[in-house]
Amino acid sequence: MSEPIVGKGIDRVDGRLKVTGKATYAAEVAVANVAHGVIVGSAISRGRISTVDIKAAQQAPGVLAVLTHDNAPKLPGAHKKAVGQERILQFLQDDVILYSDQPIALVIADTIENAQYAAGLVAPTYDANDKPVADLDAASATAYTPKSLGPRGEVNSTRGNFDKGFAAATFKIDATYTTPVENHHPMELHSTTAVWQGEDVVTLYDATQGIFSVRTRIAELFDIPPVKVRVISHYVGGGFGSKGTPWSHIALAAMGAKVLGRAVNVTVTRPQMFSLVGHRPKTVQTIQLGADRQGKLTAIKHAVISETSRFDEFVEPAASQTRMLYSCPNVITSHALVRIDIPTPTFQRAPGESTGTYALESAMDELAYATAIDPLELRIRNHATQDEQERKPFSSKSLLECYRRGAAAFGWAKRNPKPRSTRDGKALIGLGMATATYPARQLPSSAVARMTPDGMLLVMAGTQDIGTGTYTIMTQIAADALAMPIDRVRFELGDTEFPETPTSGGSTTASSTGSAVKVTCLALRKNLVDLAIGDTASPLHGIPATSITFDQGALVSGGKRDNYGDIVKRSGAPEIGAEIKTQPTEDHKKYSMHSFGATFAEVRVDEDLGQIRVARLVAAYGAGKILNAKTGRSQFLGGIVWAIGMTLQEHTVRDPRTARVITRGLDDYHVPVNADVPDITVIAVDEVDPYVNELGAKGIGEIGITGMNAAIANAVFHATGKRIRDLPITLDKLTSEERA
Ligand code: MOS
Repeated sequence: MSEPIVGKGIDRVDGRLKVTGKATYAAEVAVANVAHGVIVGSAISRGRISTVDIKAAQQAPGVLAVLTHDNAPKLPGAHKKAVGQERILQFLQDDVILYSDQPIALVIADTIENAQYAAGLVAPTYDANDKPVADLDAASATAYTPKSLGPRGEVNSTRGNFDKGFAAATFKIDATYTTPVENHHPMELHSTTAVWQGEDVVTLYDATQGIFSVRTRIAELFDIPPVKVRVISHYVGGGFGSKGTPWSHIALAAMGAKVLGRAVNVTVTRPQMFSLVGHRPKTVQTIQLGADRQGKLTAIKHAVISETSRFDEFVEPAASQTRMLYSCPNVITSHALVRIDIPTPTFQRAPGESTGTYALESAMDELAYATAIDPLELRIRNHATQDEQERKPFSSKSLLECYRRGAAAFGWAKRNPKPRSTRDGKALIGLGMATATYPARQLPSSAVARMTPDGMLLVMAGTQDIGTGTYTIMTQIAADALAMPIDRVRFELGDTEFPETPTSGGSTTASSTGSAVKVTCLALRKNLVDLAIGDTASPLHGIPATSITFDQGALVSGGKRDNYGDIVKRSGAPEIGAEIKTQPTEDHKKYSMHSFGATFAEVRVDEDLGQIRVARLVAAYGAGKILNAKTGRSQFLGGIVWAIGMTLQEHTVRDPRTARVITRGLDDYHVPVNADVPDITVIAVDEVDPYVNELGAKGIGEIGITGMNAAIANAVFHATGKRIRDLPITLDKLTSEERA
């Protein structure tokens, strides 16, 4: 029998293509006669466009078209749906300005240089009487409760009696934590090339996490059937949520191409990434914790306020984990929004849990000091053995094992509990820890599998590989389902001509499309078995199906083999296939499904300068089956490194007078680079979950950024005795604020 390849840390099947530059990203797809569109953004954040003078731009070299709200075609589906049903976007349809850098013109030229030059010649005038609001603090009195938290359950939750539980508590924490605006900066900019084949057929080469949602949106906007829209996305250079829903540039590329009758590429510039593709909203999170003398939680309240745009809603569901992370009888959570003059926020890696665990796990750390109980011990005392909000058992939970393994690897037991107690010369050394968590979801998906006469397995699903390793793990899953050598398996994705799959978001691709691939390949296997045992020419003719095993691309029984390729050949069919649509298991209703982890951080803080260096990080996760040890580790590491940036660096700054983003490039929007990243130990705890899905995999794209931010922040407190409750923790805050 062949050894399973799922779980093995094999190299990415697309790795060679990527490192040799042969993997073609959206903007690189060679499309004949492509013209280049550049989006011109508004210079004001609130008001109206009075006039747009485009004469000079039109006359500039190479310019093919200049579209503004004066001359752009009206899109039939531009304002079709209500708030909450689809993202509200701006496509040059009117003169209203809702945020800075909103598209007000699309300049298309023969070359990108000519388009960029002409874009600078577009001369708008504005009517901007209303002063914009740039920060939710300035409008917090207008906070309101949104109608929906999307897939994250109810907007507000209550169990037990918080007031009673809080009043009875021996120890109380009441603290407010804020997280700033953060922008997505995948290496690959958002980019779309649109090619119309006649009046109502269009192909889009797009950098996206969701080819089918792009198809749906473009079909609606242009009022054409979805089957006439083809979206192709073979490689994506990072998504992180900003590529999770279609934004205005996609439709503008399609609009430009339609007007010109020529292929048009629109690539969002790095500065435009701060305004045209969403952002993580600022949050203000107030947490109240009550605990008895033994540190057992008696009450938790987690109230989240986050910013949204004037015209649409996005809620950062930062309190959702607080409903189930700890055992506590009295829990209130709430989410409120404040409308200000900004573009609509969106999902950013672990939307909710990243910001929410920072706040909750910081508060737990504060409670640990208040009760004089070790932070790890405090969490163990409040461990939840079931989901107390949903009143359901967990499908699996290895958190206690994660605490043990992580603490042992980190050497937590040697920590001196006293803040400012450990130093090395001028460096104050701090150790902090926190709990990580992320839901394990599954969505409907589908795949098709085909066996060819030469014994090659071809599997296709529409899905995307946003850098997570989808090509690789799907190849592994398919290979194991049919006991095939990996080099005889080919997995293709990123094309709406393939079976429909969900958006790659919410860490759901492995669970959803992985299950579809597995089930589909098992169905193909059954078809091959049925063909063989029914075929008098097969060595396995008439043998009971149950006695057949699978090995190296063949059916095997009692020393006899029938190669898959031979079965197909004898059938006379060009290939044998199977196509299946899978649904989440029924168990998703019976069980609460989450990954959990324990994160540990060591920081060194320069006592004079306030400079913080992360010295060491350890994380242990129970996230079900890890499908590929190498790409899996890479996913954990990516989240953990991001947690460093989130805690210490990332911060989009808006000018309070104009609501315009000031940090407009990677020069002043800081993210961790090599020198910021220390030794990181990642432990994947063996966890068998028979309920989550066919694969037992919970999804690992996002949990890495949860918890670790608080672990680092808690380490900074332990080092310095200063509690900074406002991310990022920068040296100016450390050196200027009074010690907590
Ligand atoms: Mo992720 S924020 O679900 O792309």
